[in-house]
Amino acid sequence: MPEFYDLSAEGPLTVALASGKGGVGKTSLAVNLGLAFASLDLDTLLVDADYSFANADIMLGLETPAEVDAALAAAHAEVGGLELERFLVAGPAGLDFLPGVSGSLASANLDRMTAATIARQMRRLARDRDVLLFDTGAGLAGLTVEVAALADLVLLVLTAEPTAFMDAYGMLKVLRRFAPRAEVQLLVNRARDAADAAAMAERFRCVTERFLGMTLEVAGWVPEDSNVHAAIRSQSAFFLECPESPAALALRDLALRFETSASPHGDRGRSSKTPSRMVAP
Ligand SMILES: Nc1ncnc2c1ncn2[C@@H]1O[C@H](COP(=O)(O)OP(=O)(O)OP(=O)(O)O)[C@@H](O)[C@H]1O
Ligand SMILES: [Mg+2]
Repeated sequence: MPEFYDLSAEGPLTVALASGKGGVGKTSLAVNLGLAFASLDLDTLLVDADYSFANADIMLGLETPAEVDAALAAAHAEVGGLELERFLVAGPAGLDFLPGVSGSLASANLDRMTAATIARQMRRLARDRDVLLFDTGAGLAGLTVEVAALADLVLLVLTAEPTAFMDAYGMLKVLRRFAPRAEVQLLVNRARDAADAAAMAERFRCVTERFLGMTLEVAGWVPEDSNVHAAIRSQSAFFLECPESPAALALRDLALRFETSASPHGDRGRSSKTPSRMVAP
């Protein structure tokens, strides 16, 4: 592990959402979980670490001007002089946001050393905050691995599709090797109900226990909810538009569970950080 990682227990609770397969809900959950943390008065920075097709800004109702996208991509090309502060945006409801990069082949294919440097810079931006939340892209991008490597917790998003299941397993194998510090927990998305979520999680846990000798805890689950899609279509966040929707309630519960681990910033004890039972929305 590169020695420049800041492994001290101080600093924000750092959480990365990852999956393997695309389209399982990482960005929807990251954006709205960020808003849920902010609604608890936690100083929260959401970083879009999807450098292939960043789109958390759209789900936040923000627009990243093409010049900013290009400047960010260029800044990453000269990592030495990276000053990410200037790209920070005030998102809705007190959530701070660092946009990602979209449609740049170079940014999408960062080498690991560059990705590690960028990830470290991102973390530095959140040094004095309570929560740092990373959205990541689909697939095995170097940046995904590097942000996971400095996270306290990786929420591995799982849906019922067998392909999502297989790719989450593949991602877990990579994380185990390249991000050994992070605790990985399951976040089941688009479940029909609690029993469905529990069954999905149990199937995955059986496989990881049998083949990887890993027992994964379940951070929570989010139900299938038409408000999620409707919010994306109207370029807004369901946590703000429909705060009583099942998905919003599930994320509020999830944020509440991590609240004690995230606050107050700077003297967080890692031992108390994670719950193990399923969250009811
Ligand atoms: N709980 C849910 N209920 C209903 N629809 C959902 C839910 N979660 C996600 N979706 C839908 O799944 C689609 C993909 O979501 P999203 O873009 O957040 O996935 P992603 O994992 O970030 O994708 P990518 O890997 O391409 O970045 C969206 O159309 C969204 O509406
Ligand atoms: Mg996404």
